[in-house]
Amino acid sequence: MSARGCHPHRARMETGRVPGPLAMVIFGGTGDLSRRKLVPALFRLHCESLLPEEFALVGTAMEKYSDDEYRALLREAVVGEVEGDSLESWDRFAEHLFYVHADFGDPAEFLKLKDRLQGLDAEKGTGGNRLYYLAVPPSVIDTIGQQLARAGMIAEPDSPEWTRVVVEKPFGRDLESARRLNADLLKVFAESQVYRIDHYLGKETVQNLLVFRFANVIWEPVWNRRYVNHVQITVAEEVGVGTRAGYYEQAGALRDMIQSHLLQLLTLVAMEPPASYDADSIRNEKVKVLHSIRPVPVERLDEALALGQYGEGEIDGQTVPGYREEQGIAPESRTETFAALRLWIDNWRWADVPFYLRTGKRLASKSSEILIQFQQAPHPILDAVEHDLPSPNLLRLHIQPEEGISLRFEAKVPGLAGPIHPVTMDFSYLNAFGIRSPAAYERLLLDAMLGDPTLFARADEVEAAWAIVTPILEALQNDHVPIETYPAGSWGPASAETLLERDGRRWLEPQNAAEAK
Ligand code: BG6
Repeated sequence: MSARGCHPHRARMETGRVPGPLAMVIFGGTGDLSRRKLVPALFRLHCESLLPEEFALVGTAMEKYSDDEYRALLREAVVGEVEGDSLESWDRFAEHLFYVHADFGDPAEFLKLKDRLQGLDAEKGTGGNRLYYLAVPPSVIDTIGQQLARAGMIAEPDSPEWTRVVVEKPFGRDLESARRLNADLLKVFAESQVYRIDHYLGKETVQNLLVFRFANVIWEPVWNRRYVNHVQITVAEEVGVGTRAGYYEQAGALRDMIQSHLLQLLTLVAMEPPASYDADSIRNEKVKVLHSIRPVPVERLDEALALGQYGEGEIDGQTVPGYREEQGIAPESRTETFAALRLWIDNWRWADVPFYLRTGKRLASKSSEILIQFQQAPHPILDAVEHDLPSPNLLRLHIQPEEGISLRFEAKVPGLAGPIHPVTMDFSYLNAFGIRSPAAYERLLLDAMLGDPTLFARADEVEAAWAIVTPILEALQNDHVPIETYPAGSWGPASAETLLERDGRRWLEPQNAAEAK
């Protein structure tokens, strides 16, 4: 699907990674995720000439649309998400888009879908290869899997025509439902065909963590309990619940963010070097970290957990309503929109090093960062120091919005007596490479098309993450931890500060947020 001229100024994400022929089917093809993330990402891949000529995208959902109506719907969505000039090549992209109305409970509809896909094999040369994308609630996943199997739409894992399935989060709502979901999927697909998506793993800086840790020799000697004092992982959002009240009321920050994105980040910081860089070796190491996390003491939850819900406040100078005033939210809702959690990893590398995780909506700024605070130097260096001890070195991995890495260290202020003062060495992806990082979904869709599961979660990984969070969720049903209101535009509830103060520490504002002030 040549798209020359789409983005002449933009460097290609990569060369030589164009997938072979395939038809992608999005179940839930008219939904928010498809319109906001999936289709814009596919369109950008098209613009980068990273989609094959023999490509078809088939949207399927309950609504009745013709192909042309569906194309118009997607065009409208993409206009809001990509730069204007790239739309020149929309018409060429649109030739690869199709729509099939489907009632997921009706076997006849799947036969219709199968026919249509076979027609596209002939028309577009998609070669019988199928990427099914389940952008649907977990409750219909089993039905779709069964229907695909009954209609003979799933190829055997070793057959020349491949079938893969991408499953969106939420992957269940606790350990038991995640296990059930895995069992349902594995009734009809082989594990090697299942791609469980966590879009944080597709973010450039997150992937760079592996390169940063394992392609540089200087970090490994200090990446352990001897030199690291503690780790803070912050994923802060400015947005509120938006139009997702129905989902979010059932989820909350622990399920929505901690179980998935934040634990994924933690595993990448804490994992051992893998034996090799294939998908299974990396995922084995991540699972080992999850298994080493000490169970959170549910009878003393408040020692490890702080929860909050945003009240009215100010974001970017605008007054915004509190969570309970948002559309579709119960006025007495007890859903947490903020969670902070302290975890311990009981292994040789990390024993006694706390990992503090926090995430929330309607916080002071959109800013995600992993901060590694090293131990303090053991005694003063010069007579003329301003304070008793030098401040500890800080390594910050900025995930978003600006992607980069910075290191804080002590320097002597020039002068004959001069005290010492912390300074920062900054690396910015944009400045260093001058090209835009691909959006997480671009990377992940491309990997799924290419059959590379490294950045997707394996069944045991998802279950291990739920095994950490589920006891907390169960204990919360007995109201062990108060949900404190925090003003929108702040850094969360006071109890989150107390969590660290009790350990003699404090949260550090992400550098991006501090610099934006
Ligand atoms: C999603 C959560 O997985 O991640 C959302 O369901 C959250 O609630 C989003 O807003 C955050 O993603 P990003 O890429 O904007 O940090």
